[in-house]
Amino acid sequence: MRFAMIVALTGATLALPAGAQDIATGEKEFRKCKACHMIQSPDGEDIVKGGATGPNLYGIVGKAAASQEGYKYSEALLALNASGEVWTVEDLAAYITDPNKFVQEKTGDTSARTKMTFKLNKNQQDIAAYLASISPGGEAADQPADEDTSG
Ligand code: HEC
Repeated sequence: MRFAMIVALTGATLALPAGAQDIATGEKEFRKCKACHMIQSPDGEDIVKGGATGPNLYGIVGKAAASQEGYKYSEALLALNASGEVWTVEDLAAYITDPNKFVQEKTGDTSARTKMTFKLNKNQQDIAAYLASISPGGEAADQPADEDTSG
């Protein structure tokens, strides 16, 4: 396993300087996601036309995990929601790197399996920054992710 990946998987230690996340790169890289995910605003505007295998990713940063109404999540994702997870840029990047591992670490259930059979080992931060840029709060990418709102 490459060193960079080990660093990425430790999550919190991955502190990138401001501006290191490249929204334009993330937008291009999102083509890898759109087979399964659309980005559609609440008023029905297609920001990115995409598949419905996975949930709509509009406004995902700052949103509780597994909270899109009407989408049938796996038990693993529902457990992630129950753990109080709210998506941050950091957590999105870690999730995309290895969805099962991310959920297993967050929930403590080593048998958790998500329905997302996709992993990415580069540009995860850029994709997360891109998704933050099309969240209603817009600036979420620049905010520290250390706020604890669980409970
Ligand atoms: C092969 C299809 C597929 C691809 C490709 C894919 N996903 Fe997913 N994704 C899913 C499925 C299915 C789920 C629901 C997982 C579950 O319920 O276990 C999901 C869930 C998610 C979630 C959780 C959403 C929520 O409501 O909490 C995020 C975030 C996400 N995907 C981001 C991405 C990103 C970013 C990419 C591109 C790097 C990507 N996905 C690529 C199928 C896919």
